[in-house]
Amino acid sequence: MHFLSLGDFSHKELRDLLDHASELKARPTAGGDALRGKTLALVFLKHSTRTRVSFEAGMHQLGGNAIYLSEDTSQLGRGETIADTVKTLSRYVDGIAARVFGHEQIEEIAQHAGVPVINGLTDFNHPCQILADLMTIEEHLGSLRGCRLAFYGAADNNIVNSFLHACPLFGVQLTVCSPPGQALNPVALAAARKAGENNAWEPRLTHDPAEAAADADVLYTDVWFSMHETPSEEGLAAYRPYQVNEALMARAPASALFMHCMPVHRGEEATDGVADSAQSVIFDEAENRLHAQKAVLLSLMG
Ligand code: CP
Repeated sequence: MHFLSLGDFSHKELRDLLDHASELKARPTAGGDALRGKTLALVFLKHSTRTRVSFEAGMHQLGGNAIYLSEDTSQLGRGETIADTVKTLSRYVDGIAARVFGHEQIEEIAQHAGVPVINGLTDFNHPCQILADLMTIEEHLGSLRGCRLAFYGAADNNIVNSFLHACPLFGVQLTVCSPPGQALNPVALAAARKAGENNAWEPRLTHDPAEAAADADVLYTDVWFSMHETPSEEGLAAYRPYQVNEALMARAPASALFMHCMPVHRGEEATDGVADSAQSVIFDEAENRLHAQKAVLLSLMG
């Protein structure tokens, strides 16, 4: 059993993870030392602050430990294959959390691993982040069902794709507000339509920031370009109308939340005034990574 995509799970399975995460947050000792003697390997080919530290802290809190491997400090950086690395690690550890580039790399890791694998971000999706985000929305709004979430930024984005997997299951209405010419990821969109078959769930794609904000319960944004891309001035200019700033928040209901998976490129996709406002729940999202991932770790390795 792996945790590679929210699209692999039923509503009940994700509901159970969210409930367990909330219990672990309310009562931090609830997990006991269920992972005593167990080790998680963190194989990270990209930078990370939240994902790395929340997994390391989570393992420690559950009585286990974590070992971090980057490309620079392991033989991965000297050409050892992912398959050989993963087969070797599986002889030492009880789980692997990996942050990689292409989604096919996490699938390759899962194919060769003899232990559970957790997706710590790929170019396609970011399931741990969205599990924590669902938890955060529920904490602040009381319920996910009927929540109107407006995402600002790239339409084919790993955050959007994981929302496409989860929103149909939880009855969250998703609006994606992106520069003209962009489209939702066809694979994630097909999965969303299949998951939402019974309630005819459909996301909305718009290019009008004010229209998307008008009835939003949540305004969510992410960096405009992924961490290995170097944007051109023209590319940045296309996104500037989609910045979540004070003027855009004023078009939304006063009760609307501001969310961001972080790190925030302040002054680009969001202003300081919004990121640091009373409506911002970005640090709750970051904290909930810990609780949500502890629930995932216990479900896979407990
Ligand atoms: N949101 C997120 O995944 O943060 P890091 O890149 O710091 O892990």
